This record gives sequence, C-alpha cells and structure tokens, in this order.
Amino acid sequence: MAILGIETSCDETGVALYDARRGLLAHRLYSQVALHAEYGGVVPELASRDHVRKLWPLVDECLAEAGMSRPDISGVAYTAGPGLVGALLVGAAAGRAMAWALGVPAVGVHHMEGHLLAPLLEADPPEPPFVALLVSGGHTQLMQVDAIGCYRLLGQTLDDAAGEAFDKTAKMMGLPYPGGPELARIAERGVAGRFRFSRPMTDRPGLDFSFSGLKTQVLLAWQDSDQSGQTRCDIARAFQEAVVETLAIKSERALRDSGARTLVVAGGVGANLDLRARLAALSERTGVRVCFPRPAFCTDNGAMIAFAGALRISAGQHEPEAIGVHPRWDM
Ligand code: KG4
Ligand code: ZN
Repeated sequence: MAILGIETSCDETGVALYDARRGLLAHRLYSQVALHAEYGGVVPELASRDHVRKLWPLVDECLAEAGMSRPDISGVAYTAGPGLVGALLVGAAAGRAMAWALGVPAVGVHHMEGHLLAPLLEADPPEPPFVALLVSGGHTQLMQVDAIGCYRLLGQTLDDAAGEAFDKTAKMMGLPYPGGPELARIAERGVAGRFRFSRPMTDRPGLDFSFSGLKTQVLLAWQDSDQSGQTRCDIARAFQEAVVETLAIKSERALRDSGARTLVVAGGVGANLDLRARLAALSERTGVRVCFPRPAFCTDNGAMIAFAGALRISAGQHEPEAIGVHPRWDM
C-alpha cells in the first residue's frame, strides 16, 4: 500500500512514497531558499507558484526511484494546514485531483502531526505514551502523546516560536536568510560565557514558553557591542544556549509531571546540534529515552506527511472530496 505524501505548507516542496510494509520507498525535497533570499523572508505568492512548478517533477522522480508508476499509488496524503494558504492549496488541489483520477483515498494531514510522527520513521521507533517537544518556525509545544492520534497540549509558546526567535535574532544581527541554521552555525565559533541571556519562564511553574523577550535582550546586547564578527558569534552562542537550556528544562519538567520515560523531539529546531547534545545529556543523566528524526526529517519534508497519511488511510479514514485547507489549525 504505497501512499504518496505531499508537503507544500511553506517554502519547501516535499514529496515521498511510504509503504506500511516496506517503509519509506523514496523522498524528494526542493527548497525555495534561493528564491526568497533576496527578500529576506518567504514571499507567499512566489512560494505558491514555485510549488506548482516543482510538485509534479518531484512526484515523477519519486515514482522512478521506487520503480513505480502512478496506478501503483494506493492513497494520497497532503498537508492541509497550518501554513500559507496559497501554498497549501497547491498541494491540496494536486493531491485531491490525483487521488480522484486514480480512484484512491486522499487525506489532509496536520503539518505538526506530521512533524510529531517523523521520529517514528527511524529504526526502533518510540511507542506511546511519550512526551513530544515540537519546535519549528511556527510552533513551540510540549504534547502528551497517549496514542497515535491522541494528543494533549501540555504547554506552548505565548509569543514567538523557538525557530522564529532563531530567525529574527539572526536577521537582527545581519545574518542572511534563512537565519536560524546560520545562527546555529556561527554559534559554534562563539566564546562561552562572554554573554549570558535569561532562560525565560523557567523560574515559575508551568510548561509554557516565551522567547520574544530574549530576542530583545539580544538586540540590546548587539546594539551595545562593537558588532564585530567575533562578537556576533559570541552573542549567537549565548542566545542558542539560552533557548536550548530553556527547552531542555521544560522538557524535563514535562517528563517528570507526566511520568513518561520517552521524549520525542521534532520540527526544524530539532536539527540543532546543541539541542541534540543537551537532550542526549539529559537522557544519560535520567535514563529517559530521547528520540529525534534524522536532521533532514526535522525540517519540512514529504516523508512525514506520507507516513502520517499511511496511518490514517490504513485506519480507514477518508474525507469528503471538497478541497479545504486550514491556514490556522489547532491539532
Ligand atoms: O519545521 P520547519 O522546517 O518549518 C516549520 O514548520 O516552521 O522549521 C523551520 C525552523 C526555522 O525557524 C529555522 O530557523 C529552524 O527551524 N531551524 C533551526 C535549525 N535548522 C532549522 N533552528 C536552529 N538550529 C538549526 N540547526
Ligand atoms: Zn514544519
């Protein structure tokens, strides 16, 4: 049962084929980074048009890699939200049309559920119950996962998402778009201890986050500094440490509160090496299992959507044929 997965919620066109028995058969990703770079951020209209241009070639590449043709597809999953409405509509319309033409089911997947399930694509996948730390450009959430499809929000950011804070901080210090990964890269050259920023909301009970004040602290430190290349690296390091430490403290608190022995981390910031190292140390110290997707499946991709869709379709979930997307959508 090969399920085609389509991800077009933002600025990456992701396509994959997943089979419940044989696993991941093929996946392709096309990043629009170069297209948006000169504008310093994603331009929604350009994103939609580029998804239209790249989607079908990527589907054909995946089919070729898997040695399959279109009639071999037994279901289609596409990201139905949250995301940019025009970009979502490209994937939804293409996915629905293809499913209709082939006479197979189609399902609209929640983008964050896709992220949450991405670690299950790896060998020795974690089994619920577990706590999930979802850290992307649009979301920062701690979730209690009692079963696949059974999610309870434990805490979330009250303002900026962790990835958004990385991106905005990078932009403030003049780093090129996309700033988050670039800021993480230069942080490696930073001197430890030269700057220190607060760990927001860790001094009070609860599992919510707030990252916008941290951004302001960085801005003030940057404006007050010599703005040299080394200072930029030093501030980046201190900023990253503050975000990573905050995420780790709240994750440990969520594990303690829920009694879960497994932490699953997903979303773009899950690719951050410092976060991975910090949570590996937590695992060593507490014996809790920590599971990440491979870095390429932390950021947006089609594989997570194909996988989430395969679970839904094999559970017999179908949808009416109308094309609907949800630019904003609680999970
Ligand atoms: O999950 P994702 O690809 O898209 C959303 O659903 O938002 O996450 C993108 C976010 C961006 O904010 C990006 O800056 C951040 O993930 N990101 C990183 C790293 N790689 C991507 N943040 C910190 N360190 C990284 N290595
Ligand atoms: Zn995402």
